[in-house]
Amino acid sequence: MLIPLAISSVAAALVAVTSYIPYQSHLKLHGAHLNPGTLATQDQYLNLQHCEPVSPRLPNQSAGPAEPSFCEDVVLDSRTGMAYLSCDPTRLTWDARAGIFEDSGATLHDEIGAPAIWAWDTTQNRLPRRLFISSPPPWAKVQAPADLQSTFHPLGIAVTASNPYYLDEVEPDQDSRPAPPANLVLVANHPYANQTGVVDVFVHDLDKVGGKDNAVLRWIKRIEGEALQARLIDPDEAYTVNPFRIAVYAEQYSESIPRDYTKGSHISTATPQDLVSIEQDPAKLAASWVRVPSLFVTSLPDPALRDYAAKNDARRSALYDAFWKPFAAVLFPSHAKEAPDRLRKIFVYHASVGKTLMSRFDGGEPAQWDTFPPLFQTWDGNGKKGGSNSSVATIFVPSLSSDTAKVQEWEQHWVRGVAGGIREHVIAAPDINNSGNDLKHLIKTYTPSFVNFFSSEREYPIRALAVDNMGRFWTAGNPQTTAVENWISHQRTKRLEKLGLVVSVTPTDAPVRPAANIEQTTFVYRHFGSVIAHPWDFEKLATMKKRGIWLKKEYHTFTVFKSPDEALTQVQARTKDQLIEKGFLPTVPTGLAIDTASGHLYVTGAYEERGIARCKLPHDWVEA
Ligand SMILES: *[C@@H]1O[C@H](CO)[C@@H](O)[C@H](O)[C@H]1NC(C)=O
Ligand SMILES: *[C@@H]1O[C@H](CO)[C@@H](O)[C@H](O)[C@H]1NC(C)=O
Ligand SMILES: *[C@@H]1O[C@H](CO)[C@@H](O)[C@H](O)[C@H]1NC(C)=O
Ligand SMILES: *[C@@H]1O[C@H](CO)[C@@H](O)[C@H](O)[C@H]1NC(C)=O
Repeated sequence: MLIPLAISSVAAALVAVTSYIPYQSHLKLHGAHLNPGTLATQDQYLNLQHCEPVSPRLPNQSAGPAEPSFCEDVVLDSRTGMAYLSCDPTRLTWDARAGIFEDSGATLHDEIGAPAIWAWDTTQNRLPRRLFISSPPPWAKVQAPADLQSTFHPLGIAVTASNPYYLDEVEPDQDSRPAPPANLVLVANHPYANQTGVVDVFVHDLDKVGGKDNAVLRWIKRIEGEALQARLIDPDEAYTVNPFRIAVYAEQYSESIPRDYTKGSHISTATPQDLVSIEQDPAKLAASWVRVPSLFVTSLPDPALRDYAAKNDARRSALYDAFWKPFAAVLFPSHAKEAPDRLRKIFVYHASVGKTLMSRFDGGEPAQWDTFPPLFQTWDGNGKKGGSNSSVATIFVPSLSSDTAKVQEWEQHWVRGVAGGIREHVIAAPDINNSGNDLKHLIKTYTPSFVNFFSSEREYPIRALAVDNMGRFWTAGNPQTTAVENWISHQRTKRLEKLGLVVSVTPTDAPVRPAANIEQTTFVYRHFGSVIAHPWDFEKLATMKKRGIWLKKEYHTFTVFKSPDEALTQVQARTKDQLIEKGFLPTVPTGLAIDTASGHLYVTGAYEERGIARCKLPHDWVEA
């Protein structure tokens, strides 16, 4: 027995050596090395006086049902100045992201509010308005799904103009396009615990009763089932996409749908193309027809895969709890905390054919970690003036492995030639002549592939990301992962108590509200060591791009806002003036939107009962 024993002690020593250092870097990444109190000092207050709740309320009170709270995501439409918020006050007990479906919370709607989309005209000094979902009238051809009014649990959200006409970049000698009369609001919705989610498409009319204050969100389409079955470029892989975050791919639109609910046929017999050919006013046409854009989408795990659901219990820590676990994870997958495969993918829903395909990420995919949701943002590479020909020239993805966190920049690239991304689809065409013939259309789709050139490293995992019009980005996160886990778990227990689902077990000492940071990342291009271009040098960058000159991009990150660890007693002791002066940031930020025109950053938190924050960008701290 001496020999096996000797071997096992060698193995043990090996385990110790090979896993100790990765384990230490893992702990550091999640802030486990920080001593209690480190994040509660004055140093951890930064520019908070510029951040205020979007509410007349003081930041020591919860938002009521008349204000948005528990908002996963926020998106800003730069053409209309309208921001849209996706908020679910039942989030603590109905959390599709974490695989928790304990209670959909309807009994508390009067007190905390119901899940909803909120619209906010950021150009006016007003508050966000809750939008009421309206279904097509009974006589309309297309009817809303039965669950639409009863169960609505929104996560990711995207916005675009009701028709691509309003997005076209015009030639310099042409009149620029008018503002769209309506926005399309696309929402990742998770109505059922045991099924994957859907994407609901809504119209928000801005030219009707109430103008931009119109409080009705009209449902027109649901993307689900077959349409979200990702058929892949590598044929042996297939996924049911469970939509989490979405972004508009302003190319290859759906057929035209009448903007107003119409009787009888959903698709009118006279197509807009026919009407254009008889020289109608394209602006008038655009105003009365809606076209659904293609979408980029990330996926949560499939709730039907129980295995994962059990493993992904959010009450389980994201951290390795022993130093040998990173090593063991290599040998025994049950110790692995890497997120499943589909969380690393980015899918494209092609509206022209109603099908989903997977984008190719050449040279390795972003790493994703268990319990951290798959985020991304798209950027158009400054559009035509930047020499770019795609609305998604670049995708930014936070990448999180056991010991590194970064934001990766993936650029659309033609490594395999454009042909590699083109697929042909044969689609049944509507039989508009009632000829009884099976008419087919051949439609081609282009699914872009991406290559990673640049990354920006972080000291802790990223929980929210926004990109501005120049490709600079904003990130938010919490330096201490366990503090976040404790805080959310405490909030959840309190909610369950309130719902009468658990007997009172909350410890009298609430955990601290964990500290949060927000930073801006900007860049310069270098050539042979000297800075030759800044983000705003559109023409220079376009010229370089056309000539095929490859420049080295260098990212620089600056922390702009910081909020500290806060004990409940500290907040309770504050006077009104102190509360205003100390400002407000959501505790666990999950959504960011940047308004470069007015110099504001909007911050939401999926687990935040106090609503959303608006931060004025402090002049000396940001590159504006
Ligand atoms: C999913 O859950 C709902 C409600 O709990 C139930 O009515 C439905 O039959 C379930 N569906 C499946 C596919 O299990
Ligand atoms: C976009 O530009 C690239 C590089 O110039 C070119 O290879 C590609 O074909 C263009 N794509 C489209 C859709 O025009
Ligand atoms: C409808 O009928 C017209 C006239 O016969 C024909 O030219 C057209 O191609 C038909 N369209 C379709 C979609 O069948
Ligand atoms: C918030 O602070 C104000 C001013 O100190 C105080 O009057 C009020 O009672 C506090 N509200 C809560 C809910 O703690």
